[in-house]
Amino acid sequence: MSTQLSIILDCDPGHDDAIAIVVAAAHTNVLGITTVAGNAPLDLTTRNALIMTDLLGLDTPVHSGANRPLVAPPRHAGYVHGASGLDGAALPEPSRRADSDQAIDFIIETCRAHEGVWLVPTGPMTNIALALRAAPDLGGRIAGISLMGGGSFGNRTAAAEFNLWADPEAAAIVFGYGGPLIMSGLDVTHQFQATPERIGSVRAVPGRLAALLADLLTFFTSAYLARNADMRGAAVHDPLAVMVLTHPDLFQREPRHVVIETQGEHTRGMTLIDQRHLIERPARNCDVLTAVDADAAFDVIVQAIASFSRP
Ligand code: BDR
Ligand code: CA
Repeated sequence: MSTQLSIILDCDPGHDDAIAIVVAAAHTNVLGITTVAGNAPLDLTTRNALIMTDLLGLDTPVHSGANRPLVAPPRHAGYVHGASGLDGAALPEPSRRADSDQAIDFIIETCRAHEGVWLVPTGPMTNIALALRAAPDLGGRIAGISLMGGGSFGNRTAAAEFNLWADPEAAAIVFGYGGPLIMSGLDVTHQFQATPERIGSVRAVPGRLAALLADLLTFFTSAYLARNADMRGAAVHDPLAVMVLTHPDLFQREPRHVVIETQGEHTRGMTLIDQRHLIERPARNCDVLTAVDADAAFDVIVQAIASFSRP
């Protein structure tokens, strides 16, 4: 087991968010799960987070947050995750309700009460931006922000990755907050695909949890293969934002200056990564992940699932 960092996982489950919850629960001290509208409307992403905590036997607090982006209209990703946000498996009803609908207050209070929390957003960054805006001290209190989003290419548009495209103004606040920032963008997450062999290794784990997660990954991969000519499985984006904290040796990274395009007709939501090798260049505000040891990282997922599995 790796060193237990304290994190708040801010997510929009989402198939890959669900896997991020598993890895976070296995390898970090999850102070809370906060939910945001993204892959599906807020009521569904919250419901899905609660289902995941049930399946894992966690009593981790779950707080719902923003039900829409700061400026952009609410738009979801049913074409990848299905209408429920977690289509593809016969999931149980959640046994409990969210602890509150005040995720922003929860983030602020928790980061003030605990030194060195990592914020890990794996959906649109609306909650994190609102917390940073409401509590200007937060940026200096947290250990950092490790986010899934962006890249040198897009998926929702040619320029923009979904989490950035969904709420560019929130992302601009996060990328400008001034503290440690790690970006797991598409350049690295597309190296991490749920191939048939990897889904098979999940299905080989005994028990209901693994069977349900294998069903979810099968649906997720089918959605990707229907849309992408050059992939062998869904990109399992979100757990990388957790694993770069818990298993940093599996990754390569480059410090870069990254800004968010909020105006462009064709480029709104783009992460503009300064790749120039100038002697005088803008200060680097972000560690951009460039490579992952995908087999070893997927094994971390399989072992995390196994650690929660009761045959
Ligand atoms: C991101 O968008 C969502 O569909 C996934 O959960 C991930 O966070 C990838 O672009
Ligand atoms: Ca997500």
